Amino acid sequence: MKISTFNESLLEVKAQTLVLFLFEEKPLSQEVLQIDKEMGGVIQIAVKEERFAAKKGEMVSVNIGKKLGFTRVLLLGLGKKSNLSSLVLKRGMGTAIRTLTKSKTQKIAVYVPRLSGKKLQAGQIGESLCLGALTAEYQFTEYKTEKKDLPTRVNELTFYTTYPLKTFSRGIEEGEIIATAVNNSRDYGNQPSNKANPSYLVSMAQEVAKTPKVRCKVLNKEEIKQKKMEALLAVSQGAKHPPKFIILEYKGKPSSKDWLVFVGKGITFDSGGISIKPGEKMDEMKFDMAGGGAAISAVEAIANLKLTINIVALIPATENLPSGEAYKPGDIIGSAAGKTIEVINTDAEGRLILADALHYAKRYKPKAVVDFATLTGACVSALGTHASGLMGNNSNLIQKIKQAGELSGDRVWELPLWEEYSKQVKSDIADLRNMSTGLGGGAITAAAFLSEFIKDYSWAHLDIAGTAWSTEEKPYLGKGATGSGVAIAVELARKWK
Ligand code: BES
Ligand code: ZN
Ligand code: ZN
Repeated sequence: MKISTFNESLLEVKAQTLVLFLFEEKPLSQEVLQIDKEMGGVIQIAVKEERFAAKKGEMVSVNIGKKLGFTRVLLLGLGKKSNLSSLVLKRGMGTAIRTLTKSKTQKIAVYVPRLSGKKLQAGQIGESLCLGALTAEYQFTEYKTEKKDLPTRVNELTFYTTYPLKTFSRGIEEGEIIATAVNNSRDYGNQPSNKANPSYLVSMAQEVAKTPKVRCKVLNKEEIKQKKMEALLAVSQGAKHPPKFIILEYKGKPSSKDWLVFVGKGITFDSGGISIKPGEKMDEMKFDMAGGGAAISAVEAIANLKLTINIVALIPATENLPSGEAYKPGDIIGSAAGKTIEVINTDAEGRLILADALHYAKRYKPKAVVDFATLTGACVSALGTHASGLMGNNSNLIQKIKQAGELSGDRVWELPLWEEYSKQVKSDIADLRNMSTGLGGGAITAAAFLSEFIKDYSWAHLDIAGTAWSTEEKPYLGKGATGSGVAIAVELARKWK
């Protein structure tokens, strides 16, 4: 999709369809009335005939004949002005793109009127629209061999706006960088595990390391042993593919020793191990590396945005499979931190590999560590698919992440990490158990387990189990991996001080 910006006259716009965003509030703004006049008053007619109220996601397509360089206008409602956010813009743009590609429209212009006062700046608006368009168009088609099954794509997308073109265009460029990273992360999640094993994640990280100032180092099984990452080793025992520990560093501020650390769960397939999962939906567990994928893609975007910050992504990567050599319920294993863990359930493997990565993070003397993990089904029960679970040990960091979530549209909701939960992960015969005693609260007790491995740094945990995968098609997004975690991580890094 070729994206460009444009601020001359509406008479110069050449496209098949013009998309026009409108708010519920009436009367229409002078700016909208002016272009409506040039289009023959179609908006006012639609409003008057009560065919269009501009409710969020509402759409009306109107034919305007041949008087301008486009013959169709797609009116798209954004709802109430006061509720405008980057998420509303992203989804609005996404809905338009998916609607128009279904009718095989390939040349689209978008008119972006002044959307609201100070709430969102021109750059943010450009960025959100661009992100919405590019993520909406994404489809995972690598394994389709029939050309006729491939979706049509938008060739040209032109934004026509009265916003200052320089800041708006910069927003578009940044949106393209972030969307590319988000879509790459979706590719990693959608790749089946027979293609995407730990070595595949390594090659994806090495690809990112071709970007200036990025370096990738990988610990192989021998080095993982030397580092005493016994929890990661235990989880990998049943698999044929060896585990990897990926370290992806971006040094955007070489003068500083400060590091922000991202940790991502990299289970390339989670069968549950000996505590095997039921067959239904087990196929989806190819996306259990979504946290690791998000961490790799966040580094990609941050490096391409050239942010002045030092970031490292740590990704423990392995499969979780049953075999004669697999770790078993009842086993007591070690960890890099030296703590012993009683394995109650081999399906609670994410917290085990993260424990070793969170311990490894310490050597960076991090300003903060944020982990991303499809950690628990309990988080999906608690929050559904609309927000990632957020927990941590530092209210300042939690606050920053909430703000980043709001700005990026990658939504999070905090769950309480009270000390009572920690008691539920203590074992009678080892230091910890990997599955809690007592009833419920599984998303929190998993985080409580992780918190046992945090030493001397601020930490937050994002459980993306519910947000990283979509079983249904949305008006603004296709099925499968969503790339959740990437945009919020980038936003956090951007605002980092
Ligand atoms: N990868 C799963 C969590 C998951 C479930 C992610 C559904 C996305 C959708 C994780 O490894 C797991 O299986 N967790 C168990 C933990 C339990 C055994 C304590 C769970 O949530 O059931
Ligand atoms: Zn599991
Ligand atoms: Zn898992």
